[in-house]
Amino acid sequence: MYYIVCKNINVESKTTLLTEEKLLVTGGRKLEGKVEISGAKNAAVAIIAAALLVEGQVTIENIPNITDAQVMLNALENLGVEVVRLDNKTYRIDATKINNHKTPYGELSKIRSSYYFVGALLGRCNNAEVTFPGGCNFGQRPIDQHIKGFEALGATVEISGGYIKAKAKKLIGSKVYFDVPTVGATINTILAATLAEGVTILENSNREPHIVDMANFLNMMGADIKGAGTNVIRITGVHKLEGGKTYTVSPDMIEAGTFMIAAAATKGNVTVANIIPEHMESLSAKLIETGATIEVGDDYITVKGTKKSVPVNIKTLPYPGFPTDLHPQMVSYLLDIDGQSNLTEGVFDTRRFNYVEQLQRMQGDIRIEGSTAIINGGKKLNGAPVRASDLRAAAALVIAGLVADGVTCIYNLEYLDRGYENFVEKIQALGANVKRVKES
Ligand code: EPU
Repeated sequence: MYYIVCKNINVESKTTLLTEEKLLVTGGRKLEGKVEISGAKNAAVAIIAAALLVEGQVTIENIPNITDAQVMLNALENLGVEVVRLDNKTYRIDATKINNHKTPYGELSKIRSSYYFVGALLGRCNNAEVTFPGGCNFGQRPIDQHIKGFEALGATVEISGGYIKAKAKKLIGSKVYFDVPTVGATINTILAATLAEGVTILENSNREPHIVDMANFLNMMGADIKGAGTNVIRITGVHKLEGGKTYTVSPDMIEAGTFMIAAAATKGNVTVANIIPEHMESLSAKLIETGATIEVGDDYITVKGTKKSVPVNIKTLPYPGFPTDLHPQMVSYLLDIDGQSNLTEGVFDTRRFNYVEQLQRMQGDIRIEGSTAIINGGKKLNGAPVRASDLRAAAALVIAGLVADGVTCIYNLEYLDRGYENFVEKIQALGANVKRVKES
């Protein structure tokens, strides 16, 4: 985040300084204690867009206090939707009246989930003009499968002037086979199909928990969506969704995973609470393989790290495979384990490895071969000034800083703020020596 600070302002002299925030991480401390996990970013942003389909008031609890969710809420207001903040994490949204089918450009162009307004506005008004999405830059992120879904339902889609423009006289249920099991296209096609006429069947759908979360929200409001969480989803269109209900966003499995990895990496002992442990199975399995101890409760997992960790091989895959969004954090941990680990990226292209250069500045011994990072672990990392290249890269640099010698100074904190609620406060409470400061 950048602040323009003006000092000594008077008529004769104006000094303008650019101030950037940075995180100072001093390595060497074990993380210990309990951390409460917030609502899931990727579920919250989808559910906020889904609220556009509801003609009535809905209350959504456990929305994480992060930039991406805030940008989505602001965009709803711009469409004429009434958004009332009831507390830090609870919003009452009333989309009975909307006065626009075009989103404002600005902030929405920086985040990925802006594309959910295409499905939602198309479903609600048969007409959508939505800012072309931005988001983390780790490779090609095409939207051809979203377009395939909309077109199958009878819409025409055009991309021009930085906008996705989609229109239909009427949306009619259809069968869609996704060429790749994509999160975004699965959610977007559900949004468009919920109020369409007839039945839509989505095959080779993504199975992520946040798809289930959004489907549960819509079903609570009167939609008929079956099979979310499997790779075949059946949506029977309904005439209208009515509000009057309260929905709670489920916990963030990536935030939970980030703290679990940080606990193992620092050889600490951390209880990650308020989670759905089943969502964490692929990560728990890999942490156990490294030698960490995992204790699973009803809604928590306790991770105990060990000095005798062993290297592992991992491939990221769509859920229930190992999440790509835990890839950079895991590499930071593997750098601290004696021996060679390999991590193959199976979801995004090689730009997902953008963070590697920063870990190399900390003397991380990593080389990339094709889509695999070869990690020669066990050599002590050294603190250095580094820049986050995306949201999960930011978290990975914090973990690297926690196990490094000396101080790691992390810039580009706007990435961290996009997706982790109170990250600094939470990790400080576990004993990490982390400070957020402003640099002129
Ligand atoms: N893909 C296509 N065509 C499409 C859509 C996707 O080829 O039309 C490909 C992508 O290029 C990629 C793969 O499918 O190789 C997976 O992309 P997906 O659509 O599943 O990802 P996304 O919707 O762009 C969401 C999350 C990301 C997360 C990925 C993978 C949201 C808002 N974003 O992105 O979250 O990395 O799924 O799980 O839900 C994050 O939280 O840090 C983050 C980046």
